Amino acid sequence: MTQTFSSTGRDTFVGRPHSRVDGPAKATGLAKYAGEFNAPDLSHGYVVSSAIAKGRIVAIDTAAAEAVPGVIRVFTHENRPRTAWLDYNYQDAVAPPGSPFRPLYDDTIAYSGQPVALVVAEDFDTARHAATLVRVDYEAEAPETDPSKLLDLAYDPPKKRSGIKPPPKPWGDASAAYDAAPIKLREEYRLAVEHHNPMEPHASTVVYEGDGTYTVYDKIQGVSNSQGYLTGVFGLKKDDVRVMNPYLGGGFGAGLRPQYQLFLAMLAARELKRSVRVVLTRDQMFSFTYRPDALQTVSLGSDRDGALQSLRHDAVGATSRFEDYQEVVVNWSAVLYGCENVALSYKLAQVDTFSPGDMRAPGAVTGVFAIETAMDELAYATGLDPIALRLKNYSESDATAEGKPFGSKALKACFTQGADRFGWDRRNPEPRSMREGKELVGWGMATGVWESMMMQSSARAALTADGRLEVGNSTGDLGTGTYTILTQIAADTLGLTMEDVTTKLGDTRLAEAPVAGGSWTAASSGTAVMKACRNVGEQVFKLARQMEGSPLANVDFERVAFTDGRIEVAGDPGRSVSLVDAMRAAGVESVEATESAGPDTDFNAKYEAYTHSAVFVEVKIDEELGQVRLTRVVSAIAAGKILNPKTARSQIIGGVVMGIGSALEEESMMDHRLGRFMNHNLGEYHVPVSADIHDIDVIFVDEEDKANPLGVKGLGEIGIVGTAAAVANAVYHATGKRIRHLPITIDKIL
Ligand code: MOS
Repeated sequence: MTQTFSSTGRDTFVGRPHSRVDGPAKATGLAKYAGEFNAPDLSHGYVVSSAIAKGRIVAIDTAAAEAVPGVIRVFTHENRPRTAWLDYNYQDAVAPPGSPFRPLYDDTIAYSGQPVALVVAEDFDTARHAATLVRVDYEAEAPETDPSKLLDLAYDPPKKRSGIKPPPKPWGDASAAYDAAPIKLREEYRLAVEHHNPMEPHASTVVYEGDGTYTVYDKIQGVSNSQGYLTGVFGLKKDDVRVMNPYLGGGFGAGLRPQYQLFLAMLAARELKRSVRVVLTRDQMFSFTYRPDALQTVSLGSDRDGALQSLRHDAVGATSRFEDYQEVVVNWSAVLYGCENVALSYKLAQVDTFSPGDMRAPGAVTGVFAIETAMDELAYATGLDPIALRLKNYSESDATAEGKPFGSKALKACFTQGADRFGWDRRNPEPRSMREGKELVGWGMATGVWESMMMQSSARAALTADGRLEVGNSTGDLGTGTYTILTQIAADTLGLTMEDVTTKLGDTRLAEAPVAGGSWTAASSGTAVMKACRNVGEQVFKLARQMEGSPLANVDFERVAFTDGRIEVAGDPGRSVSLVDAMRAAGVESVEATESAGPDTDFNAKYEAYTHSAVFVEVKIDEELGQVRLTRVVSAIAAGKILNPKTARSQIIGGVVMGIGSALEEESMMDHRLGRFMNHNLGEYHVPVSADIHDIDVIFVDEEDKANPLGVKGLGEIGIVGTAAAVANAVYHATGKRIRHLPITIDKIL
């Protein structure tokens, strides 16, 4: 029998909307973030950032800074304590191959904004002021930060990044088929470099405990990663470093890897033997990870009915000089569309910046923008409706994985239900054919896709004799609802109320779990919590069976259900024992279990798992001003079981808004002469604000999947994927202008 998460078979909480259990703590300010924890001996670090992008430090003069009253120490590469980098081979859990950046290591400058000094003072303002007095003399070289200048040097990643599938070998003969195809198009696509800009800046508070141990509050999507970094780099023992991060103000991938403020805060705390906090400024948030530029070419050849004859997708993505950052950019084209002749390639070009990193749906945002814009172009070239073209080439199996079938793929339902809700059948396909007053109206659509993954995770559950359950593990809640869904799963598994359950996350003393990322947290931590609760339930059941005159004597565990705080014989509510009575009768104060859950290897041997979406967008564009208003979005999502429709809807809305940002606004502008991102603040790096966002309608289509016992596929990324292409396609429909380089700004429309 397939085990469902709820042994009652009744979903009391799972599958129903529930507000975030952490909402009140956040709304009242009780929720504390990494830069808000205090210690009596707290000192404050302020980072001095490199003014050049490439070269070396010739001299660094800290005397004036050190002379400021209240300044405790200025750390540079010249006086860096030798306690760091005891494990020279440190690699974090989500790092690409290469040599991770080492702050204050030597005089080399590898990128603009690189930390060159840390000023530690009694208070923040003193540290900030003194930091302006640190004088750095550089010997500068000309940086190269434009990957389009480096195409001749593009190379195949020498080492594969763990978890990232390289493009499959080509099949058929894509170029011959392209030449022979009656309809063909070949275009270049590009998106802007984007920075994550979570609301909470990166921050670390290292509390010096006086006995050689440290309590660290770090802005990270998984505390185990920070702990691994600190133990590896500083030669500390796991027990000596407790890392916590109960709340995150967003991450979008910027918090997957430990960043330099963590290193600097620990370095200073160890040396000064006191607590240190380092908070990065918003402009320093532009001095590390970002979504890389990628130059893409898509070539499509089809017959006159729109059946693809040739599919080629080539990409060159930017990386740094010290790491081969890789993401899946081109594979999506062949995941989405069936074709006999396919060639996919992905290469890297090294620029003089920090290493790019994963940013919400890394690679998919990039590659799907290209293929889904190209498919819209093919729809016009063949005269087919964009949905009809997609259905004509609909893939029934994953060609990038030797043709393995999808465990589930309800994308057709996304097309149907999304189109229906949007009113797609009222669309006149002719560009510039729909208008309202002085505004051109455009309707566009696109498909989204993301891999559904699961990671080995553990979780602990503990039920006490007062009927309260605590569950949790070390993963982070990005703010998206992990606390809430885990509470729902735990409550249902043991038949308790939401109020009976406390979920704890973000603490290395809890059961070990990976970073929250990749849309894998619901499946991974959710299954682990369910298993741990199930284990606790079985232990209490055994106690209940031993009670004198137990109504459960001689009943098998498989036959009982947990409901209303009781264990009852399924279908016979008269025969039951309360959990609390069972524990009290046995004189047991607490029943605990830790369980681990990981990918289902049998399932994965047979099936591939992806989430899908169909995104429909309406734009209204002022014909004279070129100003785009995005008036309506319908996003229809196939992502397996939806644990909580309320937090799930918010996840998708967030993804869609971020997709709107990448389509219309977000752009980190590099001055290639200086090798520096110039708009490193939220005044000049534009993200959508409330006034930019109108109707966003989210549909979850029914989809049953068996990749994990919960049937969930994850929602963190799918909302953003495809959104930018849908916007670009709507802009084309409105204006007749095909814009292949994001963001779509007024200058490109007019
Ligand atoms: Mo996400 S880019 O895996 O945080």
